[in-house]
Amino acid sequence: MLKQVDHCIWVAEQPLKFLGLEVGTRMTVILQSDCSLLLISPIKINFALKQQLSNLGTVKYIIAPNLFHHLYLEHSHQLYPQAKLIAPLGLETKQPSLEISLTFERDVINFNGELEYIPFQGFQVFIPPKIAEVNEIVFFHPNSKTLIITDSAFNFDCNFPFITQFATRILGSNRSLKPSWLEKIATRDKEITRQAIDKILAWDFQRVIMAHGNIVEENAKEKLTAGYQWLVS
Ligand SMILES: [Fe+2]
Repeated sequence: MLKQVDHCIWVAEQPLKFLGLEVGTRMTVILQSDCSLLLISPIKINFALKQQLSNLGTVKYIIAPNLFHHLYLEHSHQLYPQAKLIAPLGLETKQPSLEISLTFERDVINFNGELEYIPFQGFQVFIPPKIAEVNEIVFFHPNSKTLIITDSAFNFDCNFPFITQFATRILGSNRSLKPSWLEKIATRDKEITRQAIDKILAWDFQRVIMAHGNIVEENAKEKLTAGYQWLVS
């Protein structure tokens, strides 16, 4: 079900397992001033959720924020065939069946000037046994001073099962807004990644919504800066 985070931002969550751990996943919904809706990292949309969304506005864009968060893109597009799919470069090769209309790195997408974005260049993840490109797009919603990330930082806490808390404590992403060592060791071109995180940290945000973990409502910029201290100039 939708939970309101700010006057024009909502989230909806569902369970999700990754490497055997329950990490959950979260969709962010943004209402624009023209009553259009943006769905970032869509989850499975059931009847009740669809009703709630239709009470808010009309879905205009369905967004894959990186190369991994595309699981419910096709499902969402079937529910909202008039909406355009937007994805990072590379998803058209990974998921050729998707009808992607716009690509972040190739097209100019201005979201009515109400949402900014940056490709998080250089950021990668180690998923045993190999390093994978993520092509994550990081979003900034100036009106609510909210940064919207997907896999570039987590914040697992006591709301997650014990085994997830235990594992993320070892992986270094428990009770703090930061990537785990799976992302740190995979991120090889530190200069390019540092330049990207510097741009992200230049935005004036106070809140961070991530796909996995507890939303950070206060001092989020300071917390994310600390979480990326290994890169920040
Ligand atoms: Fe993820």
